[in-house]
Amino acid sequence: MIPVILSGGSGTRLWPLSRGLFPKQFLPLTSSRSMMQETLSRLDGVSDCQQPLVICNEEHRFIVAEQLRQQGVQGAGILLEPIGRNTAPAIAAAALHAMCDDGDPLLLVLAADHSIQDVTAFQASIKVAFQAAQDGALVTFGIVPTAPETGYGYIQKGDDRGGSGTFSVRRFVEKPDLSTARAYLADGDYLWNSGMFLFRASALIRELEKFAPEMLVACRRAVETATSDLDFIRLGKEAFSASPGDSIDYAVMEKTDKAVVVPLSAGWSDVGSWSALWDVSAKNAHGNVEKGDVTAVDSHNCYLHSSDGRLIATVGVDDLIVVDTDDAVLVAHKDKVQDVKKVVELLNHAG
Ligand code: GDD
Ligand code: MG
Repeated sequence: MIPVILSGGSGTRLWPLSRGLFPKQFLPLTSSRSMMQETLSRLDGVSDCQQPLVICNEEHRFIVAEQLRQQGVQGAGILLEPIGRNTAPAIAAAALHAMCDDGDPLLLVLAADHSIQDVTAFQASIKVAFQAAQDGALVTFGIVPTAPETGYGYIQKGDDRGGSGTFSVRRFVEKPDLSTARAYLADGDYLWNSGMFLFRASALIRELEKFAPEMLVACRRAVETATSDLDFIRLGKEAFSASPGDSIDYAVMEKTDKAVVVPLSAGWSDVGSWSALWDVSAKNAHGNVEKGDVTAVDSHNCYLHSSDGRLIATVGVDDLIVVDTDDAVLVAHKDKVQDVKKVVELLNHAG
């Protein structure tokens, strides 16, 4: 089994700490290790785990290489995308590359920027998924939903597949609108797609042949024309850039009849916003998360992060996010943190 670590996101909702040149997955947000390093260390002790394949944008190659070195991971492949084409081409290229080297391995596809509190439960769910994936299923890991989030995929759980802990998938709906998400939540049969998958490389490729043949042709060509230097494998630029962009969820998971779901209850979070980071972080008696030089008076349930040696002081405020970096300060209400990405859009426009 080869872990395929998706490290190509831009993490704009965690601006100003997360930046284009140094996005969220490379930051030590939930511990002293980066999110990517945490993702790798979560696999310690998983049996049959080979060296990981990290897939990222070429501009992040040295960050990835350095963080793997720090983590003591040797012999990992680092697959470089010349341009982000979203997760389907990234996973397709990783699958095709792995098949060149290794026949038809199982691929454990993981986002580099998730947090999971209960590692034992996570590892147990991989074990549960193993047999179904061996048999050709595209296994997803489903999270019991707690809110009508519209940024997730929803999986309608079907029948128990013989008491093995895996369930058939009736429906997979990526990013439904709010009223649909509310109906799914009320229904009780739906799980969130965690964005982690286990499947045989060939099982994914077969589905891409059916549902995204143009993408498959482009990715095959990108792998055939790849060049390697040091630990880096550079996908062929012309071919990869010509691939249509799409996420694995729209391109394959919504359409396939090979999906199987393993429910996962392990304190999963995709740490998709400052409030999500507050949720998963250790808080003091006032409910504040305080990082760096912070003095909070009569302030509650705040995320206060000073990363530039400057003191953040708050008085009489609740539910605030304050993040200070050397060239930008964010002050946001905890209920509005999804809109932080609008700041980044405005800045990109202005620049
Ligand atoms: N290598 C690479 N290249 N990685 C990428 C790319 C890319 O072009 N685009 C995104 N990624 C990585 C991100 O870093 C992240 O770790 C993961 O792939 C998922 O991408 P997101 O962009 O964060 O996806 P999403 O949040 O919109 O939706 C996905 O995740 C949800 C759970 O967090 C879907 O799988 C949803 O169904 C799911 O609920
Ligand atoms: Mg995400």
